[in-house]
Amino acid sequence: MKIPLASLGFTESDIEAAIDVLRTGELTIGKKVAEFEMAMAEYLKVKHFIMVNSGSSANLAIIESLVRPSSGEPLLPTGSRVIVPAIAWPTTVWPIIQLGLEPVFVDIDQRTLGLDLKEVRKVLEKDRSIKALMIIHPLGLCLDGEELKKLCEDFGLILLEDNCESLGSAFNGEMAGTLGKAGSFSFYFSHHLTTMEGGGIATNDFEVAQDLQSIRSHGWSRNRTDHKKWELENPEIDSRFMFVSAGYNIRPMEIQAAIGLSQLKRLPENIQRRQEIARYIHNEIKDSKFELIGHEYLKSDEELNRHTWMLLSIRATDSNLKDLKSYMRSLENLEIDTRPPLTGNFTKQPALKKLLPTLGLGNNYPVADKISGSTFLVACHHDLTDAQVEFLGQSLKLIQKKNF
Ligand SMILES: Cc1ncc(COP(=O)(O)O)c(C=O)c1O
Repeated sequence: MKIPLASLGFTESDIEAAIDVLRTGELTIGKKVAEFEMAMAEYLKVKHFIMVNSGSSANLAIIESLVRPSSGEPLLPTGSRVIVPAIAWPTTVWPIIQLGLEPVFVDIDQRTLGLDLKEVRKVLEKDRSIKALMIIHPLGLCLDGEELKKLCEDFGLILLEDNCESLGSAFNGEMAGTLGKAGSFSFYFSHHLTTMEGGGIATNDFEVAQDLQSIRSHGWSRNRTDHKKWELENPEIDSRFMFVSAGYNIRPMEIQAAIGLSQLKRLPENIQRRQEIARYIHNEIKDSKFELIGHEYLKSDEELNRHTWMLLSIRATDSNLKDLKSYMRSLENLEIDTRPPLTGNFTKQPALKKLLPTLGLGNNYPVADKISGSTFLVACHHDLTDAQVEFLGQSLKLIQKKNF
């Protein structure tokens, strides 16, 4: 039975919403995007949500807004050091490098697959020049918001959250992606909510929100609520063509927002389905050599909100890389898609390996290596049927048998 990692995730009402937009003839950013942004801001309990064309663009725009703000001093001047996790996504890290900042990789915690916050504290105690934390809430899990805020208070850091994988998760009622200065979201296929490609940024900071409006659209002033101020300060420039920040074209389309609005209605039930799948698989494998990473968050209702299960991370507790590859091959033979945890140890990827000496960075991240050599991911999509979930559970047990 096929168990793909990603699924289309569209219902008839999503498709109808998309077709309705095509009929209006208003295709690029407009009313539907504004409506989706308001709905997302309300869902996340945040002041501003700015939609863009991908989660990667969201990360890029966040860093741009802090490196080259349209007014005032940059919060992250060129050369600022920013902590990132050793298991990351490329486009969490690249905007930091591309925009003249320095990533400082820190090892991960094998229980969460996110930054090891104790290790982060040790690094910060040694290096007081670090200016920001760019965390990832990994694969559905909201990291410890209290400790993150404490670290930022103790060391005067800016908290940035790559929340492209964990929409809907929360810490003590505060949604992942809204704990710090700005948080990014991805609406790519197989995520909790999909707009085909798509993403966005949540922030409570008015200035950052204004600059994100400009950055996503050529640097233009026209969609900013403070555009009158710019007109008064620059009377010699045609106000319709005034550019006030660095510019990209990373705008979303109306069709994406219409699908997003339709999907948002089903988000709570989709998250609940993912939690059910995670609980079922945990119960199936808990007495075996496989461990579902994050299963602690299935215990109580309060803990349940911490995790929205983008994919299932399965750690083979007794394995070396050879066993891991053989487990993954066995699953693939049963038509169950597998993949490594994000990039594995990102510092060991060719693109980074050649750059590390120029950045003066090492690549000694033992926990990231251990996870890369013992852990694989399988689907936890809300579209999976009961039969698919049962087959997944049985297969995970079957492939551990000798002579399978
Ligand atoms: C942690 C993380 N950041 C960023 C992204 C990029 O998102 P997108 O594919 O929408 O560009 C992803 C992709 O899923 C991701 O997992």
